Amino acid sequence: MTIAEALRRAQELIHSDSAKLDVELLLAEILGRDRSYLYTWPDRQLTPEQQNLFDNWFRRREAGEPVAHILGHRGFWTLELEVSPATLIPRPDTELLVETALELLADMQEPPRIIDLGTGTGAIALALASELPRAQVVATELSAEALALAERNRLSAGCGNVTLLCGDWWNGVGGRFHLVASNPPYISEDDPHLSSGDVRFEPRSALVAEDAGLADLRSIVAGAPAHLFPGGWVLLEHGWRQAETVRSLLAEAGFADIFSRRDYGGHERMSGGRWHG
Ligand SMILES: C[S@@+](CC[C@H](N)C(=O)[O-])C[C@H]1O[C@@H](n2cnc3c(N)ncnc32)[C@H](O)[C@@H]1O
Repeated sequence: MTIAEALRRAQELIHSDSAKLDVELLLAEILGRDRSYLYTWPDRQLTPEQQNLFDNWFRRREAGEPVAHILGHRGFWTLELEVSPATLIPRPDTELLVETALELLADMQEPPRIIDLGTGTGAIALALASELPRAQVVATELSAEALALAERNRLSAGCGNVTLLCGDWWNGVGGRFHLVASNPPYISEDDPHLSSGDVRFEPRSALVAEDAGLADLRSIVAGAPAHLFPGGWVLLEHGWRQAETVRSLLAEAGFADIFSRRDYGGHERMSGGRWHG
C-alpha cells in the first residue's frame, strides 16, 4: 500500500466529520513524520509492519475510538499531552480560556498565583505554567487516575511551578489566588450528544454534571470568593447555551466586570468575572 492509497481510505470513515485529518494523523504517527510528508511522498510504500499497524488503527477509528486515544497523545497550546480514557481529551476551544487568562494577568507585577480546578490531563494548568514561569500554579483533580496522568504530563512539560492536588473542587484547597480557572463537567445527563462522537469514549465523570449540567459550575462559583485576592478573576468554560446562566451565577455571587467570550464556532463558550472583595 502506498501513502496515497492509505490516504484514500479516509472516504470509508463515513461517521467521522474529520476523516481526512484522522487518517493523516494516524499515518504521520506510523511513519514518524509530519503531515506535509504524506503529500510530498505519496508514492512511498508502507512496510508490511506499517501497513498492519495502519489497518489495526484504521479499524479502531472506524469503530469510533478517538484518534487521540489511538495515538495516546494530543496537542494543546504549545504542549503535546499524553491522553487516556481517564479524563477528557483537551479541546481546541479550551485554548480560549488560556488565552484570556494570559491577557488578564499580562500586567501583573508580582508572580501570579493560579488554580485550575478539575485539571484532567493538566491542559490548562500546564499551558499557563509554561507561559508564566514565575507563576505558582495549583491544579486539582478528583480522579486519581487522571491526576497520575497530569503528573506525567507535568514532568514531560518540565513545569516545576505546578503543584497537583487530589480533591473535590475546593475541599482541601488553602490560600488565595489571582486567577481561578476551570473547565468542569457541564453536560446535562439527558443530552443526546453523549451517545455520539468522541464523548462516548470519555468518562461521564469528566462530562456530566447534575442540575442540568450546572451543579459543578455552581460549586466552583460559590467557593471562589473565599479563595481570590481582591481584584482576582474567575474564568469558567461552559456549554454553549449556559453563558447567560453562568453570568447570573457570577453576578449573584458578587462578581463584577462579568463577560463571556465566543469559541471558534461563534458560541459563547466561557465566562468570567472579577472579585473586588
Ligand atoms: C471537562 S473535564 C476538563 C479537563 C481539563 N481541565 C481540560 O480542560 O481538558 C473535567 C475534569 O474535572 C474532573 N472532576 C469532576 N468532578 C470533580 C470534582 N468534584 N472535583 C475535582 N475535579 C473533578 C474530571 O475528572 C475531569 O478531569
